[in-house]
Amino acid sequence: LPVAYRRLLPDLAPPRAKPARPLPCHPSPGRRLPAMDSAHVENDLVNVLFTEAQIQQRLQEMAEEIERDYEGEELLIVGILRGAVMVMADLARSFSRHIEMDWMAVSSYGSGTKSSGVVRILKDLDTDISGRHVVIVDEIIDTGLTLSWLTSNLSSRNPASVQIATLLRKPEALQMPVDVKYVGWDIPNEFVVGYGLDYREKYRNLRDIGTLAPHVYS
Ligand code: PRP
Repeated sequence: LPVAYRRLLPDLAPPRAKPARPLPCHPSPGRRLPAMDSAHVENDLVNVLFTEAQIQQRLQEMAEEIERDYEGEELLIVGILRGAVMVMADLARSFSRHIEMDWMAVSSYGSGTKSSGVVRILKDLDTDISGRHVVIVDEIIDTGLTLSWLTSNLSSRNPASVQIATLLRKPEALQMPVDVKYVGWDIPNEFVVGYGLDYREKYRNLRDIGTLAPHVYS
C-alpha cells in the first residue's frame, strides 16, 4: 500500500484470538443494567409477583427438566413473538446442551373475535419441523386459545413431537384445554406485566413480573 494511503488508515491491531466460549453457557449472576427511571416504571407495580432471581431460578429448573426429557434427541424451541422474547433468551441460555431456536408471530383476528380462537400467522417458522422435536415457548397462557391453535397447526406439519413450555398460566382464565408440559407458575386471573408482558406495549422490559397499580389505568 502506498505510504500516503497507509497514513489514512487507522492503526490496525493484529486480530485477537476469540476467547473460547464453551457450552454450557449459563447467565452470569449479579449483572444488572442501569435501573430505569424508577419513579415512572418500577413504582407502577403495585405488587411484584416474581422477582428477576425467582424467574431465572425457575427457568433453570424448567431447562433441566426439558433436558432430561429430550436426552439424546435434537430439540427445536419455538418462541412466540413478541412477549416470549425474554423467556426464550433466558431459557435458551439455561440449557447445557445444543438447541435450535426459531420464532413465530401470530395475531388473533382483532380483539373482538379473539374468543373465536382463530389465529393469523404474521411470521411463520423458517424451519421445516417435519420429524423434529419441538417445544413451543411462551410467557403466558391466558385463555389458551393461541397455544391451542398453534399446537394443532404445528402438529399438522408432521413433527416428531410438539410440547408447550410457558412461564405463566392462568387456570381460571382457560377457555380451551391446552396440554402444557412445562409450566413455570400458575397464577390468579390478574393482569400482569413485566418480563415480556405488556400493558399498551409498555412494561415488557421490566425484569420482574407484577401487577399494575390502579393509577396507571386511570
Ligand atoms: C400473549 C401471549 C400468548 C397469548 C396468550 O400474546 O404471548 O401468545 O397472549 O393468550 P391466550 O391464552 O388468551 O390466547 P399477545 O397476544 O399479548 O401478544 P404479544 O406476545 O405480542 O404481547
